[in-house]
Amino acid sequence: MTSTQSVPAATPADDTADGGGVLRRAGAVVHAGSGAARQWWRDAVIYQVYPRSFADANGDGIGDIPGVTARLDHLETLGVDAVWLSPFYRSPQNDAGYDVADYRDVDPLFGTLADFDELLAGAHARGIRVIVDLVPNHTSDQHAWFQEALATAPGSPERARYMFRDGRGADGSQEPNNWQSIFGGPAWTRVTEPDGTPGQWYLHLFDSTQPDLDWTNPEVRSEFENVLRFWLDRGVDGFRVDVAHGMIKAEGLPDWDGHVEMVAGSADDAAGESTGDVDPGAPEDGSTGAGNQGPMFDQDGVHEIYRAWHQVLAEYDGDRCLVAEAWVEPLSRLARYVRPDEMHQAFNFSFLTTGWDAAALRTVIEASYRANDEVGAPTTWVLSNHDVVRHPSRLGSADPSLKVNGVFATDPQPDEELGLRRARAASLLMLGLPGSAYLFQGEELGLPEHTSLPNDVRQDPGHFRTGGAEAGRDGCRVPLPWAADAPGFGFGPAGEPWLPQPASFARYAADVQYGVPGSTFETYRAALALRKAEGLGQGALAWLDAWADSPDVVALRNQDVVVLANLGTEPVLLPRGAEVLLSSGPVLTDRSADPQTRVPADTTVWLRA
Ligand code: NOJ
Ligand code: CA
Repeated sequence: MTSTQSVPAATPADDTADGGGVLRRAGAVVHAGSGAARQWWRDAVIYQVYPRSFADANGDGIGDIPGVTARLDHLETLGVDAVWLSPFYRSPQNDAGYDVADYRDVDPLFGTLADFDELLAGAHARGIRVIVDLVPNHTSDQHAWFQEALATAPGSPERARYMFRDGRGADGSQEPNNWQSIFGGPAWTRVTEPDGTPGQWYLHLFDSTQPDLDWTNPEVRSEFENVLRFWLDRGVDGFRVDVAHGMIKAEGLPDWDGHVEMVAGSADDAAGESTGDVDPGAPEDGSTGAGNQGPMFDQDGVHEIYRAWHQVLAEYDGDRCLVAEAWVEPLSRLARYVRPDEMHQAFNFSFLTTGWDAAALRTVIEASYRANDEVGAPTTWVLSNHDVVRHPSRLGSADPSLKVNGVFATDPQPDEELGLRRARAASLLMLGLPGSAYLFQGEELGLPEHTSLPNDVRQDPGHFRTGGAEAGRDGCRVPLPWAADAPGFGFGPAGEPWLPQPASFARYAADVQYGVPGSTFETYRAALALRKAEGLGQGALAWLDAWADSPDVVALRNQDVVVLANLGTEPVLLPRGAEVLLSSGPVLTDRSADPQTRVPADTTVWLRA
């Protein structure tokens, strides 16, 4: 492409030679800056470590805590403020550790408590904070409490910690209600009583090995407050709270014909097909049963729990924080979790599910600030995690807002090159926004989903409980490539990684990206450094007038930086003299004395404004 091309439609033509005025004309402020961040988490970049897939120190093919400690340099070089560790507690691993058998110990698979302390000390020594995962909605069926519940009779205090109910029908042989498990199949399992007779049923919103606790029971509440203290005393900086919207169920456990999916929300048709069309900016209607709010989710009673936890954290120094994993829409409803006396952050899944559409992104970004500013909480931004298809693969798919739930080898495969280009552009847009951003391990390498995993290696209970109808989440959990030429791409010293890695991972290995200008790793690293230097996490946001209604371009001003993402198919011509600080891919600048730059399709630039 040369600079002799005509001015593309996406560019405000009469402004191309005005020395950058177009970059300074911003409209109404969408979000007011917060000045210096009051607490570290308000503008933090937080990196999710999924321990079993990060790095394997002992060679058994499964990542572990010493593996994370050994790779802290990677995180320090990248420049993240904190890590969030997915569960490493004692667990039979039926849901990769989200089935906890002992909340106060490390599973031998991952190491020991001493290994954890070493990791914490090592991270803190590098100025990296550590958030751990708390799974309060359910325990493992191997937890001592559940074993006690099984060994005692209906009506016992041991059973009262869980959601045991008698079955329906004369002989109690039908489920107590019609709820479906999020992983497929009924949400109830019948037990055999200690005397050998068919007995009560227990509720499990997820796998049958993940019985739901009864959060109306004060014993459950005090136990978890003590679990919080156990880890706070050890020095953790916060907790990511699993299924934060699920702990209280509607009184009487009423039937509900919807089927909740963790990611896509719910449909109110019995077939369970998600409509996925919840408007993130829709006004709060206060009802349950709309959107993804069945009688098991987003009940008002959950907030009391978080108020109590807020107080527990406040007893400790250092601005410890709680982040809610709550698949709740609209955003105004999600914001209730981050009111001043509750949690501190909530994952912004409305942003994650928006896809690659300029107008839709502006809408969700505005709605996010509107909702969070109302309660004084920072907005978070997240594009990938261990439950969704990695964003390079989503954005390389025919419909980027779909298929968050896993891809089969037999499905249409994403366009890898397009997906990576868009993913880098999406990440630079995200990192240019005020608030706090979450990165999922491997996204700094541009890692795609493994979209052709053979079904016989899959491990996600969601795959099995749907009878294989859903691929499940294994494809985003494939062990990381550290070294292009090493066996298992350097994931561990020996042994087959617990899930096979695709050959393409050689291209993404960390060691072929370190120090290479323009590599995804170096682009993220530069973005995090600039974000910090320019104070973007605490900045104010306004759309640039010139592109405020553009179907192709998202352009915003944050502090002294303009972030411009070109989602269209034509290049965007920047005003002469615009200074490009960073770009997600190659941009074309002519060699004239007064150079002019073109931003190609699917590219984001950060400009000096
Ligand atoms: C959300 C977690 O992120 C997911 O991985 C897990 O399967 C469910 N909660 C159940 O704990
Ligand atoms: Ca290991």
